Amino acid sequence: MSTAALAGSRPGAREAAFVVPAISDTDFRRFQGWLHAVAGIALADHKKTLLVGRLSKRLGPCGVRGWRDYFELLMDGGRPGELQIAIDLLTTNETYFFREPAHFSFLAEQILTRFDGSEPLRIWSAASSSGEEIYTLAMVLADTLGMGRRWEIFGSDLSTRVLETARRAHYPMTRADKIPPAFLKRFCLKGTGPQEGTFLIDRPLRERVSFAQINLNETLPDIGMFDIVFVRNVMIYFDPDTKRQVMGRILSKLKPRGHVFVSHSENLHGVTDRVEIVKPSIYRLK
Ligand SMILES: C[S@@+](CC[C@H](N)C(=O)[O-])C[C@H]1O[C@@H](n2cnc3c(N)ncnc32)[C@H](O)[C@@H]1O
Repeated sequence: MSTAALAGSRPGAREAAFVVPAISDTDFRRFQGWLHAVAGIALADHKKTLLVGRLSKRLGPCGVRGWRDYFELLMDGGRPGELQIAIDLLTTNETYFFREPAHFSFLAEQILTRFDGSEPLRIWSAASSSGEEIYTLAMVLADTLGMGRRWEIFGSDLSTRVLETARRAHYPMTRADKIPPAFLKRFCLKGTGPQEGTFLIDRPLRERVSFAQINLNETLPDIGMFDIVFVRNVMIYFDPDTKRQVMGRILSKLKPRGHVFVSHSENLHGVTDRVEIVKPSIYRLK
């Protein structure tokens, strides 16, 4: 059995180095099956190292020495909150402001210009991660529609850890590089003193946003109907059957002729026939 020793925090420290146990194929398959059943995430066979890398830090705090014991602890609920911690660690949350900017230009130029204002415009960021997609949308809506019109954004994710960051709306300045400078100035507050090097999304935008933890792999709660859904860079983690089910649930929350945005590396071919393609990665309910 191969092992990898984690270096101690102080060179020469006398406490015994924590040794990460290798995971057997059988135990890996247990985690694989569980993650798929819970989140719909298909963890490929070659992702063993990823799983060990992300979860090994939990063995010590949970007082277990091996993967079988950790899995059993997750299953028997012996440690409240541990399931969510494991899910948070296993989801990939990469995101940034103005990711895939062509989507936001299309939204502003082709969709928002036709908004008649008879009902509030509702947008759902359905795998929002830490909120950058949500606040990008808020900036674009504030810029295009203004704050006098009725619009709102709803953000959800499976991971509670990233949702906390999204709710705080407080980011290191290093995350701001893709935000147009004029938007940064209009919609963000620059941190000073102890907050130096950070920025906060300004309150009027934060007030247009609400959040909930939602697992797209389960029946959706009552969240109302939306004009537009952004569900980008999440379906890549699902197998074809899960994609079909997730998209079915999402489309049930879309108003007639509503739009769905997926990422440029995803498409809905073979996933649903209830939408028509507007341009690659942008769809409309038939
Ligand atoms: C790579 S991020 C995408 C963030 C953002 N949409 C973007 O494109 O930048 C994928 C997000 O999907 C979430 N996710 C994974 N499985 C999910 C599920 N079953 N239900 C809801 N969210 C899920 C993860 O927690 C993660 O935050």
